[in-house]
Amino acid sequence: MRRVGIASLGAYVPPKILTNKDLEKMVDTSDEWITTRTGIKERRIADESQASSDLAYEASKIALAEAGIEPSDLDMIIVCGVTFDYPFPATACILQDRLGANKAGAMDIEAGCTGFIYALSVAYSYVACGFYDNVLVVGSDVLSKVTDWQDRSSCILFGDAAGAAVVTPYKGQGELLNFYLRSDGSRTDDLLIPAGGSRNPASHKTVEERLHYMKLNGPEVFRLAVRVIEDAVTAILNKAQLKKEDIAILIPHQANIRIIQTAARNLAIPQEKFFVNVDRYGNTSAASIPLAFYEALKEGRIKKGDYIILVGFGAGLTWGAFLIRW
Ligand code: ACO
Repeated sequence: MRRVGIASLGAYVPPKILTNKDLEKMVDTSDEWITTRTGIKERRIADESQASSDLAYEASKIALAEAGIEPSDLDMIIVCGVTFDYPFPATACILQDRLGANKAGAMDIEAGCTGFIYALSVAYSYVACGFYDNVLVVGSDVLSKVTDWQDRSSCILFGDAAGAAVVTPYKGQGELLNFYLRSDGSRTDDLLIPAGGSRNPASHKTVEERLHYMKLNGPEVFRLAVRVIEDAVTAILNKAQLKKEDIAILIPHQANIRIIQTAARNLAIPQEKFFVNVDRYGNTSAASIPLAFYEALKEGRIKKGDYIILVGFGAGLTWGAFLIRW
C-alpha cells in the first residue's frame, strides 16, 4: 500500500446571499427562531441556470490550480451529492467533459451529506493500491432546487456550494490515515425525496403533492445525528489508537450548531476544536465538509502535523469519519 495525501482543496459558493430576514418575507419564521434553533444566519443560493456540475467545476478549477495539476493528468473524477444534474448520466461525466479531463474515468457517489467521506475513501483506496495517481473528489449540491420553499421547518436549513480535493500519493501534506463508514437503511423515511425515482416515478400527481421536494423529520434526524457523530469519532480514534487530546481540529458536517454543540459536549471535546461555518452557508449537504475543510485551511486553523477528523452524517442514514494528518 502506498501512502496517500490531499494535494489541494478548492471550494465555491454562489454569490447570491439569502438571509434569515429574507426568509421572514417568504415563510412564517423569524431571524431569532432560525438563529437560536440552528445557528444559521445566511446561506448561498445558486441562480436558476446553475446545476451541480457548474458549482463542481468552479471548485475543481481552484483545487487543480492549487495542486499544480492539469485536467489531463486526472485518472478519475468522483462527484458526490444528492442533487445531481440529471438522474443519469453521472454529473462526474459532465464535469469531466467541462474540465477537458481526457484521460479520466468518472462516476457519482450518493451517500447523502456523508458523500465526501465516502468518496474520499474510494479515492484513497485507488491511490493506496497504486491503480491511480491523481483522483479528483468533488462534493457538490444545489439543495435550493429540491427545497420546498413553502415548508418553514426545512427551507431555512439549506444552501448551495461545492468543495473539491485532489488526492495523490503522499507528498508531505494531508496524509489520509484511516476511515470509518456506516449506514442504517431502516431510517430512509426520516430524510428523502419521495418521488422522481423508480419507487414513485414523477407524475402530475407527485408534483401536485410536492413529493419531488425534500422531506425531513427534523427532530429525529437531530437525535440520530448527535448519536452517530459520537459513534464515528469514537470509532476512528479507537481504530487509530489516538486520544481525543491528540486531535487538533474536527471538521463536522455543518447541519445545525446545536447538533455540533451537543456532540462536542457528549464526547467531552472542547467545542472550539469543532470548525463551524454553518452560520454563513447553512447545510450544503455533500459540499459541507470540503467547504469547511477549505475554509479552515485558509483561515490558518490547520498546521503542519495536526491530526484532523472529518465527521459526517446524512440521508440513508449514512455516517462516517476520516482521520487525516496535515
Ligand atoms: N420558524 C418558526 N417556527 C418554526 C419553524 C421556523 N422556521 N420551523 C418549525 N417551527 C416550529 C414548529 O412548528 C414547532 O411549533 P409547535 O411547537 O407549535 O408545533 C416548533 O417550531 C418546534 O419545532 P421542532 O421541529 O420541534 O424544532 P426543533 O427544535 O427540533 O428544530 C430543526 C427544528 C431546526 C429542523 C432541528 O430539528 C434540526 O436541525 N434537525 C436536524 C436537521 C438536519 O440536520 N437535517 C439533516 C439535513 S439533510 C442532511 O444533512 C443530509
